[in-house]
Amino acid sequence: MRRQGRIVPGIVPRIVLGIESSCDETAAALVDADRRILAQAIASQDQDHAPYGGVVPEIAARAHAERLAPQIAQVLAEAGLTLADCDAVAATAGPGLIGGVMVGLVTAKALAMAGDKPLLAINHLEAHALSPRLADASLEFPYALLLVSGGHCQILRVEGPGRYRRFATTIDDALGEAFDKTAKILGLGYPGGPAVERLAATGDPTAVPLPRPLLGSAEPHFSFAGLKSAVLRAHQSGAHRAEDIAASFQQAALDCLLDRTARALGAMEPVTALVVAGGVAANRAVRGALEGLAASRGLAFSAPPPALCTDNAAMVAWAGLERLAAGLAADPLDVAARPRWPLDPAAEAVRGAGYKA
Ligand code: KG4
Ligand code: ZN
Repeated sequence: MRRQGRIVPGIVPRIVLGIESSCDETAAALVDADRRILAQAIASQDQDHAPYGGVVPEIAARAHAERLAPQIAQVLAEAGLTLADCDAVAATAGPGLIGGVMVGLVTAKALAMAGDKPLLAINHLEAHALSPRLADASLEFPYALLLVSGGHCQILRVEGPGRYRRFATTIDDALGEAFDKTAKILGLGYPGGPAVERLAATGDPTAVPLPRPLLGSAEPHFSFAGLKSAVLRAHQSGAHRAEDIAASFQQAALDCLLDRTARALGAMEPVTALVVAGGVAANRAVRGALEGLAASRGLAFSAPPPALCTDNAAMVAWAGLERLAAGLAADPLDVAARPRWPLDPAAEAVRGAGYKA
């Protein structure tokens, strides 16, 4: 299959249109090679999913289908640009909820075809992994990345676009999932992460004894299922205030993050920096704790601003720019949407792990 669009040798792409629709945010953005976000829009579906306490895939896909095209028209108008001014179209092609991914990818294919532009099928995890470099021009490869989101909890050595080595993953739940389930148990609604963070700030992190799964174990992997069950038992016992449960949960999660990340760093150094990205990286306690860990090891620390941590299309456009700048090929029009798509396909499956990416 012919690659879509022409990449003219010697001409560096300047402006990329990015599209994100892999979960419950519909997003479009225009980003240029100088790290400027020319325009962006994010439509959250929180209201659509709130009654169900989590994302309902079919509702998500329908909402993306309704909102995405007008949103792209809106960001182009805001930037004063047309499709002809874009050098490529990048869309998340997985991993994620497949109906939503297909809406975004097919829209990108149609635009790439109509405008004769290169199509970039972006791995959503790569978009998170490279997002810190959109915000921080001084961040060089290779860096250690803690990628913590609703679907993933991994530690990777980021060596360049398309070049990732995974050192750790979760053997059960992702950290964002644990935040969301804790919120559900405590009746805080959806999405749970920010609500747990707010409540935790008013509680006592030492009040409720909670487990720290895998703390101190030789392999740097994560586990959060036992912590979540302990939160449920603590709540059902009726012996604790919700704010103390939230604070104690967040503290237990932080202890695990720090211990596991330190372990992984020992295995992957030298790196230029410790970086955190993904939705949970919006959490101030998480950022603060990792910054402290980086400082204790003499490493630089970098985290995108919170709005670039949760799902957005600027990071997708940026991943497209990074891939093109690194000389990686654009994708053919028959490229598939992928519900699963590991960043490091060579990483071994972890015993006990539910298959996540
Ligand atoms: O990266 P993201 O927007 O979507 C995925 O790719 O999964 O991450 C969403 C996850 C949710 O689980 C949400 O509860 C969590 O990130 N999250 C937070 C915070 N903000 C978002 N978790 C803890 N504290 C926060 N402030
Ligand atoms: Zn994400």
